[in-house]
Amino acid sequence: MKYAVAYYTRSGNTKKVADAIAEVLGVEAFDISKGMTEKADILFLGSSLYAFTYDPSVEKFIQDNASFIGQIVSFSTSASGKSTAKFVKETAEKCNVKFYPHGFKCTGKFGFMNAKHPNEKDLDAARDFAKTVLAELGE
Ligand SMILES: Cc1cc2nc3c(=O)[nH]c(=O)nc-3n(C[C@H](O)[C@H](O)[C@H](O)COP(=O)(O)O)c2cc1C
Repeated sequence: MKYAVAYYTRSGNTKKVADAIAEVLGVEAFDISKGMTEKADILFLGSSLYAFTYDPSVEKFIQDNASFIGQIVSFSTSASGKSTAKFVKETAEKCNVKFYPHGFKCTGKFGFMNAKHPNEKDLDAARDFAKTVLAELGE
């Protein structure tokens, strides 16, 4: 099973979570702007909420790289703690990419809100999430 971790970030919050997940999987997380050149059976894909939705570049990344992706596992950060999973799921399904039904989400710093998040506790929860997915989908 080949795992990969990709993220879209504007202020670094989602990258922190991506790096924590990547550490568990033993891979290097990459920015979605790099695109994909190799197949990943399982792609952990991180994004955030901006004005109630995800950034359009995340949608384009899925569309452009669908042939390289076996299944997407979504994770997100946001000020509210809500996730981008439904947007990622919708796009994945349109592109015939399988979508893992459980995701990870945590709060992310936004102005004066959620100072220091994602914090170590959030990152530990992200690591635990990655371990659970590994256990379920196989190493
Ligand atoms: C322009 C803008 C709009 C945002 N809109 C929302 C929003 O609608 N809902 C929400 O929960 N968070 C919102 N946020 C907060 C971000 O989702 C949060 O800071 C997130 O952790 C950013 O992740 P990043 O650093 O990886 O880009 C917004 C942030 C920005 C900069």
